[in-house]
Amino acid sequence: MLIPEILDTFRSLLRDARDAGDPEPTAMTLATADGKGRVSARIVLLKGVDERGFRFFTNYESAKGVQLAAHPQVALCFHWKTVRDQVQVRVEGRGERLPAGESDAYFATRARMSQIGAWASEQSRTLPDRRTFDERVARHEKEFQGRDVPRPPHWGGVLVVPDKVEFWYGAQYRLHERVCWERDDGQWRSRLLYP
Ligand SMILES: Cc1cc2nc3c(=O)[nH]c(=O)nc-3n(C[C@H](O)[C@H](O)[C@H](O)COP(=O)(O)O)c2cc1C
Repeated sequence: MLIPEILDTFRSLLRDARDAGDPEPTAMTLATADGKGRVSARIVLLKGVDERGFRFFTNYESAKGVQLAAHPQVALCFHWKTVRDQVQVRVEGRGERLPAGESDAYFATRARMSQIGAWASEQSRTLPDRRTFDERVARHEKEFQGRDVPRPPHWGGVLVVPDKVEFWYGAQYRLHERVCWERDDGQWRSRLLYP
């Protein structure tokens, strides 16, 4: 469970990034590793944060989804260029699937074409040509015509339950400030790190 001190700091920095005109303040790098320790990283959007952790949504059968299932340890990284003298937030923890009800609730808020896209895209797998994808989109549009699009079983949320959160505040002459929080035996403790 994230303590209010960490959560409040994160939320206030995210608000600052939004207020400072960051075009994509919820964009975060997500790093995952496969069973052999090979690491990959990509951007996903943060769709919620609370005391349980950080949430994003994706295709469970994508490369990241397969990696998460094999190796649940993940890292997130935010970089807000327009806040103060730049801010970086690093999160480490375990990724776990959100309960189906929560994924259903979020899926229902998505634009209809995004919902269709979740059915049509076999994310991360080989696409022979663009026309094949367009045809899949058209097929699913027809399939769900006149009714709500249900959430595909292979699509849903991931909750990153953190055990480490670091706030990095840029400063002149590389004299940055780093505040590192770690959870040990259920207790969160902070310490400063050399920049
Ligand atoms: C700004 C931005 C936001 C993105 N948001 C998401 C997202 O929320 N979920 C997602 O699955 N992919 C998102 N993507 C696409 C991912 O970066 C990635 O291409 C895709 O998830 C496939 O990754 P994988 O093959 O490693 O599983 C986003 C890309 C960008 C550039």
